[in-house]
Amino acid sequence: MPLVTTTEMFKKAYEGGYAIGAFNVNNMEIVQGITEACAETRSPVILQVSKGARAYANHTYLKKLVEAAVIENPELPIALHLDHGPDFETCKSCIDGGFTSVMIDGSSLPFEENVKLAKRVVEYAHDHGVVVEAELGTLAGIEDEVNVSAEDSSYTRPEEVEEFVARTGCDSLAIAIGTSHGAYKFKPGTKPQLRFDILKDVAKRLPGFPIVLHGSSSVPQEFVEMINTYGGAMPGAIGVPEDQLREAARMAVCKINIDSDLRLAMTGVVRKYFAEHPDHFDPRQYLKPARASIKEMVKHKLINVLGCDGKF
Ligand code: G3H
Ligand code: 13P
Ligand code: ZN
Repeated sequence: MPLVTTTEMFKKAYEGGYAIGAFNVNNMEIVQGITEACAETRSPVILQVSKGARAYANHTYLKKLVEAAVIENPELPIALHLDHGPDFETCKSCIDGGFTSVMIDGSSLPFEENVKLAKRVVEYAHDHGVVVEAELGTLAGIEDEVNVSAEDSSYTRPEEVEEFVARTGCDSLAIAIGTSHGAYKFKPGTKPQLRFDILKDVAKRLPGFPIVLHGSSSVPQEFVEMINTYGGAMPGAIGVPEDQLREAARMAVCKINIDSDLRLAMTGVVRKYFAEHPDHFDPRQYLKPARASIKEMVKHKLINVLGCDGKF
């Protein structure tokens, strides 16, 4: 089937009490690892491309890699999404360039400016059959060149969501309930806890409306240890507990963004490979286990965290 939007995926996910996985793609091995896992478990998927990914790999290469995945997996529903679109022009470029979904990230702007920008993107996107994710509230962490400190992050204010969604016409809403980008989400020694009270309040105010969680990697300690054992240095890397994400997926959360966990899975295995095979220099030799590691990680997420396996 051709690329799809997220409309049908989210409707079924909301009703079924599960979430769709949104995984960031930057190269062929990542696209293959994710889509092989999704095809084998029959899980619909969102492949997302950040501004940084477009700068690294080029829009056309990424689009063509995803098109290859569509051809190789004819039954798999795949949405192609712009992650953290920084401005109207980037969103327009992705809409014109064949994406089926875009995010306009005006979360660092004042409310009125966020509304104005998101509304402009929604109008253009909807005219072209593309859906839009917008964001209210600010996550901590690093994404592209933007680094938001924990002090500057702020939870979503539930009392703002109805007006924001009504005025922008966005199709889904990313909210801040304690997740954050990157591999260092919580301070060592503290108890990671998402603000389910905010999520519940938002869901009550927007019945049936799809909510998105960014910054939802769990930073599996197995891979942090692998990286640290084989020459890396990632002390104190901590993520969101998977049981809390499963709980969110049962509620109004229909899309969960996971990127850092795939990076850890790939990096850990490559570091181990080099340590064990110091004489190897063929990229296929170390990228093969890296791709397999991504596939295993994604399978685990689909089945045990998102609950979206067997859904097509
Ligand atoms: O939220 C950001 C994603 O992890 C993408 O990261 O901007 O480094 O491509 P990136
Ligand atoms: P993580 O850094 O937790 O994987 O979050 C990814 C993300 O939100 C992409 O938009
Ligand atoms: Zn994000």
